[in-house]
Amino acid sequence: MFITNGTLWKDTSGQPVHAHGGSMIRVDGFYYWFGENRSGRKRVSCYRSANLRDWEFRGDVLTLDSPFRPMDIRTDPKLASGDESGTGANIERPKVVHNPVTGQYVMWMHWENGRDYHAARCAVATCDTVDGDYVYRGSFNPAGHMSRDCTLFVDDDGTAYFISAARDNADLHIYRLSEDFLSIDEHVKTLWPGQYREAPAMLKRNGVYFLITSGCTGWEPNQGKYAYADRITGRWSRLYDLGGPTTYDTQPAFVLPIHGAETTSYLYIGDRWDPSDYHRSSYSALPLEFPDDRTLVLHWADAVHIDLHSGRVETRRKQSGLWRIRNGSHRYLTPGGEGDNRIAARRLSYASLSQLWVLEPADGGFVRIQNRACGRYLEPQQHNGAAEVALAERSDRTSQQWRIVEEEKAGWCIIRNRLTGNVLTWNRNADGILHEEALRSDRDGRHAQRFLLTEHYGELPAM
Ligand code: GAL
Repeated sequence: MFITNGTLWKDTSGQPVHAHGGSMIRVDGFYYWFGENRSGRKRVSCYRSANLRDWEFRGDVLTLDSPFRPMDIRTDPKLASGDESGTGANIERPKVVHNPVTGQYVMWMHWENGRDYHAARCAVATCDTVDGDYVYRGSFNPAGHMSRDCTLFVDDDGTAYFISAARDNADLHIYRLSEDFLSIDEHVKTLWPGQYREAPAMLKRNGVYFLITSGCTGWEPNQGKYAYADRITGRWSRLYDLGGPTTYDTQPAFVLPIHGAETTSYLYIGDRWDPSDYHRSSYSALPLEFPDDRTLVLHWADAVHIDLHSGRVETRRKQSGLWRIRNGSHRYLTPGGEGDNRIAARRLSYASLSQLWVLEPADGGFVRIQNRACGRYLEPQQHNGAAEVALAERSDRTSQQWRIVEEEKAGWCIIRNRLTGNVLTWNRNADGILHEEALRSDRDGRHAQRFLLTEHYGELPAM
């Protein structure tokens, strides 16, 4: 049985799985999946599966109506009334582990007031059973620090660590937890100060720790990176790229080890947030590859087969041949709409076929750039005296041919017209309407004339 990536996953009752930014834990032969659910008063939902494909909804384990019980350290009890706006707290990236000393399941998460991201606190909830109603234990700033994207990691010796983005996301902190996993013992490490890494996910293999993170671009996908260390509190390596320039349009949620009779595989589980519609956000499960003990490689796979018995993972991949074209401000080339030839730079939407382009080879290494939704091609046109680049029916004109010249940074290009020699330019001042200009060397030019081409991964959006 294959898992299909880049699609909306449904639970066994046909409802979308809302377990975003989540985590998994294995208990009595079941994988329990916890994650964000932002519908109504729900905050964290739980699903379970014996095969990692068929997910049974188990309950909304944390809601705005969850009971509160204080703990030894001073925490803020507010959940329902996150602030005076009355929306209730915003809960992100819930992670659940089991504490062998108390027997409790302990959830750590990111707490905000529901209106903005200024509070930057962590929060804790506990339960005696894995998928019961969790008791809220309050929110706080760990060791006084800001704390946003986060994860939990329990080492082989039973020590638990909470890892979260501090100092307005500039630094990543590692905290060792108390024995009962309910509070911070000590801030033990600051990683990559000033490098703005978030969405941390940790794994350990052959004695080596790996930490996978993303850059800080909100819901927009960016280049994932990883680093490794021999000791959590020791020296960490520099950051290395993981996957393509948008990590195949995902952001790390967690890594799931599959311990089989023949081997242990490590599944990277990424969120594919939809910046245009949070509730259409989906997931991808991709096996991590280890060319050696200190190197991580991540490839895209459309379908993944997990053999829980042997621990082996098999993948299938097909090239979509479709591309998105993005500018330096995370906006994607999109036709204006019905009856409109003009192109604007819009927010990413995985549901939009019109953000997908075909690069049709012409002679001499040039391509025609065809919109997948309307079938028309990019071409310079005069519009109110300005040289815009808009859509036109296919022709043999060399003005419909472009050369894509790769820049030194992976995936980034300038796109030069065969006839005019000018390059595709995004006009920030004119509502992001596309035009063309001579190549500029100033900072603005670098920003407006460089585009990132990313392949489309997963099933095709509907027409
Ligand atoms: C991302 C973060 C998500 C969520 C989002 C809000 O950077 O990883 O968990 O906080 O920003 O814009």
